[in-house]
Amino acid sequence: MDFSFTEEQLMLQDVARRIAQDVIAPSAAHFDQVGEFPLDNIRLLGENGLMGIEVPAEYGGAGMDPVGYVLAMVEVAAADAAHSTIMSVNNSLFCSGILAHGSEQQKQSIVRAIAEGREIGAFALTEPQSGSDATAMRCRAVKQDDGSFVINGKKSWITSGPVARYIVLFAITDPGQGARGITAFIVDTTRAGFHRGKTEPKLGIRASATCEIEFVDYVAQPADVLGTEGKGFGIAMGVLDSGRIGIAAQAVGIARAAYEQTRQYVKERKAFGAAIGTFQMTQAKIADMKCRLDAALLLTLRAAWVKAQGRPFTAEAAIAKLTASESAMWITHQAVQIHGGMGYSREMPLERYFRDAKITEIYEGTSEIQRLVIARSETGLR
Ligand code: CAA
Repeated sequence: MDFSFTEEQLMLQDVARRIAQDVIAPSAAHFDQVGEFPLDNIRLLGENGLMGIEVPAEYGGAGMDPVGYVLAMVEVAAADAAHSTIMSVNNSLFCSGILAHGSEQQKQSIVRAIAEGREIGAFALTEPQSGSDATAMRCRAVKQDDGSFVINGKKSWITSGPVARYIVLFAITDPGQGARGITAFIVDTTRAGFHRGKTEPKLGIRASATCEIEFVDYVAQPADVLGTEGKGFGIAMGVLDSGRIGIAAQAVGIARAAYEQTRQYVKERKAFGAAIGTFQMTQAKIADMKCRLDAALLLTLRAAWVKAQGRPFTAEAAIAKLTASESAMWITHQAVQIHGGMGYSREMPLERYFRDAKITEIYEGTSEIQRLVIARSETGLR
């Protein structure tokens, strides 16, 4: 067993850390408060290869492996979760599915624009009435005689929806077939028939824009189909497996930021004539925070490593996401508690970490869905 990283992985981590600390961290509180999409910072991440980390260089990406992706995500998320959300959607939800199933043309034109950070991508699976139960979608793509599709329907909770140029969309092409009647499309949001709806006001990751979208007689050409007609649900699930490693890494980054600030604080803050870090109740919290942080990081790296070996990693990704997101929630909770009033104040980033951590237990499959995936894998029962 080898716990060391390659030179390339460490270089990527270093690039991500420098941008995260020099550019993102100083502006994170501002973007959170005004809820503005940090477009310039996202372009900078793209120029440095961080919007298409696993995309091969021939399609404009950094050509790195999933372990490198985790290391970079942790650094960006430790500076600001909202930036890492945008990064994760571009990297995992958008690029990974097209890389695995897309045509050469889709990779050369569309993936390249996203990986280089010139355009933003999004992923549209969820609908107002279908979240965890993804096959309950209603968005409909009706095939025409000339092979094109006319798409009608609504999608909700679309991360980066307000700014995305391209969206990977899932719609029903064969009603009554359940998961086997769903097809994936790549949608160009500048075309007729695409509309943006209300923007969601959110508890956390406020700088990452989220909205509803609607299709009214949007025409998709046969070249816009991603993969094979009727195989869209498997594409969505495979993409989410990769995405869950990204969200696990995001959770680790948020948790690490909260932990490191708390570790410093308990050495400086005095009460009853001593640093609060000398009190056993504080020591227990610090020890438990560190154990959960390391467990989350190691499980996330394991999932990335299994993926890098080309082996199935569905269960490993679910274990990593479940552990890391619940650890992030617990660690940020303890961090706020240990900081007392200052933890609750907007003058410090602890309350932002706490708000941001919550989404990692919800998106890209709730904790309940991760438990379902893990239990099915363990028992073989459904
Ligand atoms: N990889 C590839 N294929 C998979 C798969 C995987 N991990 N998991 C399932 N499939 C395939 C199955 O093989 C099956 O194919 P066949 O019909 O050919 O046999 C098909 O998908 C259906 O599988 P199931 O019967 O297991 O499906 P299910 O209805 O029981 O649902 C589920 C499974 C795990 C609950 C799934 O619906 C799920 O993951 N739900 C959560 C959805 C989710 O994560 N949504 C997040 C939205 S995106 C988001 O949050 C983005 C954002 O903005 C940041």
